[in-house]
Amino acid sequence: MGYPKLTALVAVLTLMLGSSQAQLNPFFYTFTCPQLPFVVLNVVSQALQTDDRAAAKLIRLHFHDCFVNGCDGSVLLEDVPGVIDSELNAPPNNGIQGLDIVDNIKAAVESACPGVVSCADILALSAQVSVVLSGGPAWVVPLGRKDSRRANRTAAANLPSPFETLDVLKAKFAALGLGSTDLVTLSGAHTFGRSRCLFFTGRFDNFNNTGLPDPTLDAAYREQLRQACTTPGTRVSFDPITPDTFDKNYYINLQNHKGLLQSDQELFSTPGADTTAIVNTFAASQLLFFIQFGNSMIKMGNLSPPPGIPSEVRLNCRKVNPPTVLHDVI
Ligand code: HEM
Repeated sequence: MGYPKLTALVAVLTLMLGSSQAQLNPFFYTFTCPQLPFVVLNVVSQALQTDDRAAAKLIRLHFHDCFVNGCDGSVLLEDVPGVIDSELNAPPNNGIQGLDIVDNIKAAVESACPGVVSCADILALSAQVSVVLSGGPAWVVPLGRKDSRRANRTAAANLPSPFETLDVLKAKFAALGLGSTDLVTLSGAHTFGRSRCLFFTGRFDNFNNTGLPDPTLDAAYREQLRQACTTPGTRVSFDPITPDTFDKNYYINLQNHKGLLQSDQELFSTPGADTTAIVNTFAASQLLFFIQFGNSMIKMGNLSPPPGIPSEVRLNCRKVNPPTVLHDVI
């Protein structure tokens, strides 16, 4: 590369580095923490060696972070009475796991580049690395988020529920600027990980007070699930065929009426819904699913906090920085 081109590249990178949360960019840590992607990759790979669900836990944390006041690491804040009303205490976060893995990533990142990388960015990068290590697509992760000094438990209580109708799910996504394609695509993350039985045993008998099982749940699969569900807290794979692989099987399962949650199956089985054709497209083409997954993850990852919330680069992902540590107020 000649000098003029190099100078132009450095100028562009410098401009990008100066950007705020509103303009995330993939080069945000190019000079301040060039080894960041490798550090995250290393710790997530290690976690996967002892925990098949590590990848699933991490991408779900990023989703629950971004849907509540934008991607600001607020989901990770623990309760401090009178100060932090933790989102972890909201019912939809009741079974959320993986904070220990985030602690390990943060410790490794802090040792490589102290005080530079936000927990919100660690979640965004971990989600991408998790998908790649599970056989799914890579995408370029825009970076430069800050960590909030506030949590919003009330908003967390409004995260999408597995018992909601497609109309309600669509409305919750639309409120954040995410359309039907994003809803179907991002739900494809249910290609790996587990759900506790309490979220779907209501489909087995007397579904919605009909006196009958959910007619959109395959009867033989229903009986297999009934056998598997020895307690409400038992965890069952979303995808019975390739439980820990990121692939398009989720959509094939929906076509076969083997969606685990009501909210999964509705994407395919709601009469007249625009989501059915999208499920069919992804069931037919893993390439199209993978390309769109990256696009929708970037869109979700761009959700930014409302203006005026004080933010910082947290040193411990579970706690706001002590007053002695400088933080931005935006
Ligand atoms: C469309 C609305 C959604 C609903 C109603 C929903 C609901 C759920 C429920 C009930 C569980 C099981 C939780 C438990 O047993 O504790 C779960 C797990 C999971 N969700 Fe979703 N989810 C939705 C969208 C998403 C999105 C957008 C993503 C990521 C992009 C995602 C990723 C996951 C993953 C990976 C797991 C497994 C976690 C594990 O094994 O620990 N979900 N989801």
